[in-house]
Amino acid sequence: MRETMNTAYSRILAIESSCDETAAAVIENGATILSNVIASQIDLHAQFGGVFPEVASRQHVEVIYPVVAQALEEAHMGLDDVDCIAVTKGPGLVGSLLVGMNMAKGLALGRNKPLLGINHIEGHIYSLWLTEDAPNIEFPFLTLVVSGGHTELYLVTGHGRYQHLGGTLDDAAGEAFDKIGRLLGLPYPGGPAIDEAAKTGNPQAFKFPRAVMEDGFNFSFSGLKTAVLRQTKHFDPGRLPVNDLAASFQAAVVEVLVTKTERAAAAYGVTAVHLVGGVSSNSALRQQMQAALKIPVRYPPSILCTDNAAMIGAAAHWHFVNGRQDSLNIDVIPSLELT
Ligand code: KG4
Ligand code: ZN
Repeated sequence: MRETMNTAYSRILAIESSCDETAAAVIENGATILSNVIASQIDLHAQFGGVFPEVASRQHVEVIYPVVAQALEEAHMGLDDVDCIAVTKGPGLVGSLLVGMNMAKGLALGRNKPLLGINHIEGHIYSLWLTEDAPNIEFPFLTLVVSGGHTELYLVTGHGRYQHLGGTLDDAAGEAFDKIGRLLGLPYPGGPAIDEAAKTGNPQAFKFPRAVMEDGFNFSFSGLKTAVLRQTKHFDPGRLPVNDLAASFQAAVVEVLVTKTERAAAAYGVTAVHLVGGVSSNSALRQQMQAALKIPVRYPPSILCTDNAAMIGAAAHWHFVNGRQDSLNIDVIPSLELT
């Protein structure tokens, strides 16, 4: 079913600061990126091997103003030219979310613009509307949200209509990649580093467990993590077969993600599968999902897989054209769910 949308025009200034990227973008009609500025804190957190919440919020405070100014400048616009201010209201780190939310509220109040608080996961789902493939998107489709904080399967039956089919019971896929990357002595974040190392490793070198529970669409990665940790103890430190361990770990994660997604796609008779979130950049996941499914598998370019504000602007468009407007009293919700 191709749902016709309300075709009202929108130019949205979107702000995202839920984790370790400070980002702002200007999006036209939920589809065209007029600017997309991302200030990553990866270098700052690399020394801790993960995101340090207080450091993250302090850094957001430092750069949010110039990031928003740059997004407007690159879009050749002033604040008066945008129709709405959209901002991530959750899920995410409370201190980080607050920086973006307060900035957005200040701009909305100061320029008398409508404010929209957007769910970060909904933003990831809408990242596909910013791609060339957007005109081909039809409902219902299945979305696998795989990021540092989430591993969730949703059936999407229309704009803003989500059915949660399952999710991780413990670690998110990206979190597992980051932890195993650290264990193998790879640079932070572990996901891209493992993806790279695995290209010259043997995915069958080690047989790691695949937690594919018989029923339902939930995931679990903690047993796999423990198995990799145990395996590393068989080697002298400094003599780890890093590439083989990376390839074998990645193969286990990808097999579980593909098996569950394939099962859900068959159960719900969807027209396509969408992969979104940071881990959807993973080359093995993309290849194997495409090989396993007979329906289109879509994923955004890497710059729109990891956190960005363009996706928040794309999601906000549908709310804006449907007349939604939030109060200036809205608050951030660190554990916000998508329903
Ligand atoms: O979507 P994202 O920027 O942040 C969250 O919303 O959580 O995702 C970041 C995660 C990190 O865990 C990172 O290691 C992972 O995405 N990631 C990857 C790859 N690129 C980024 N994981 C596996 N393979 C990749 N190529
Ligand atoms: Zn994210």
